[in-house]
Formats: sequence, structure tokens, C-alpha cells
Amino acid sequence: MARITASVYTSHVPAIGAAIDHGKTQEPYWQPVFAGYEYSRQWLRDNRPDVIFLVYNDHASAFSLDLIPTFAIGTAAEFAIADEGFGPRPVPKVIGHPELAAHIAQSVIQDDFDLTIVNRMDVDHGLTVPLSLMCGQPDAWPCPVIPFAVNVVQYPVPSGRRCFNLGRAIRKAVESYDPDIKVQIWGTGGMSHQLQGPRAGLINREWDNRFLDRLIADPAGLAELPHIDYVREAGSEGIELVMWLIARGAMSDRPPVVKHRFYHVPASNTAVGHLILENV
Ligand code: DHB
Ligand code: FE
Repeated sequence: MARITASVYTSHVPAIGAAIDHGKTQEPYWQPVFAGYEYSRQWLRDNRPDVIFLVYNDHASAFSLDLIPTFAIGTAAEFAIADEGFGPRPVPKVIGHPELAAHIAQSVIQDDFDLTIVNRMDVDHGLTVPLSLMCGQPDAWPCPVIPFAVNVVQYPVPSGRRCFNLGRAIRKAVESYDPDIKVQIWGTGGMSHQLQGPRAGLINREWDNRFLDRLIADPAGLAELPHIDYVREAGSEGIELVMWLIARGAMSDRPPVVKHRFYHVPASNTAVGHLILENV
């Protein structure tokens, strides 16, 4: 049977992608950010999964106000890199896993979560920056990736509780897939940031670190946090953090092993948070 071996959590700031693409990772501003991922790149080489289920949000690249799916699963064989205004990032295309994606869609929809099935979708920095942080600049990504897009851009957004329970349904789906493969689930976006309005630039270190503590040790309690708390405490774009609860909900009910924890301010307008949790 397939199983979820580990979860990875990371911010997805577009300027991080630009720093990698333009060879600036060793500049004084960026060096401390990338230093926080050195362990992670080695860990991923040592713990290469067969598939990554990557929870992220689209930033009006594949979807627009014409169509706003709350949860969208990418079932295609491959996904092109989105042009976000400066041309597509110079990174490999994303190879999907249509068979596992279709299996998860079947199981999760029968478990009462309404997923949108997406057979064609360009993927933006929300998905590519986490891959770049974890893999560097390879010619091809290390394994197939199932993109799972969550609407955290246009209100109403899904609650943390719903995201956590969806993660549990994804776990059940993976564990009912026959082939004996290792699946990692990644939750991306966050941490505290606000890109607009009078509070633009807001960062809340204390709240972010408490979120990391609770994500590790009390995810079911954390899942009860209402969305307004994210917005008030972590800024308007801090709501991206509900996506981390999908990945955490997909982990075993037993306490995970914390392999790596990192937090850094600033990266562009954003606090960067990162965790690697393994199932025991
Ligand atoms: C920025 C954009 C994002 O999508 C994000 O999650 C963090 C920062 C930015 O434009 O700086
Ligand atoms: Fe974002």
C-alpha cells in the first residue's frame, strides 16, 4: 500500500525564486534564507519520495475571478510553468501522477469533499518556489508532483478545520492506493505577511512561532482557529497558512518527528517559516 512518509512546510515568496534564478543566493541579504534550507536539500536527497502531493495556492495565474475553485486537484500528466508577468521561471516543467491523482479525487470526493478536477493548469510561484528551495536547480524535479490548489486569495476562503479534515481524507485516500509507494505531502505559503493597505509589511514573529509550535504539537486545536485570527494576527496574506493544516492533517495521529525547523525575517515583505516532519 502507499503511505505518507513525511510532510514539508515552507513559505513561497516570489522574490526567493527570483534570487535563485538570478544567482543571488549567496548575497548577504539572501544567504541566511538559503542557509535555512541546506539541511532540507540533503534530507530530500536522502528521503526521496515517489510522489509529492503539493498543497499551494494559485495567485490569479491559472484561475481568475471568472472561476474560483476552493480545492482543485491537478490530474494532468504534466503542468507548464506560469508566466506571472516576467516570463515563466526557468525551471523544469512539472510531471504529474494522473493515476494517483485520480484515485485521490475518487476517494476524497466520496468522502464528501468537493474537489475541482483540473486537467490543464499552469503552476505559479506558489508551487515552483517550494520545489526550488527544496531541490535547488535540477534539470528535472526529483519525482512526479500532484498540484493541489486551494483558494486563499478571494473570499470566502476555507476554514482551518475544513483544511485539517481534508488532510485526513487525503491520508485515507493515499493509504487505500495499492502500489507500494512513498508519498510526501507539502503545505506551502505564509508565514505572516500583508502585501497591501495600511498594514502592508506586517510581520508577527511571536504569532508565527506559536503557529509552528502548535502545528507540531496541537494541530487539531490549531485547526479551530477562525480565519479572522489569521488575518488580524498574521496579515491579509497570512491566511495562506491554512494550507499547512491540510498537510498536517494527512500525517499520522501519532506525534511526528521534527527533522528540521527554521524561521527567518525578512524575505521581501514576508516572514519565512519551514518545517520537516516525519511519520514514525
Ligand atoms: C509575496 C507574494 C506571495 O504570494 C507571498 O506568499 C509572499 C510574498 C510578494 O509579492 O512579496
Ligand atoms: Fe502567496
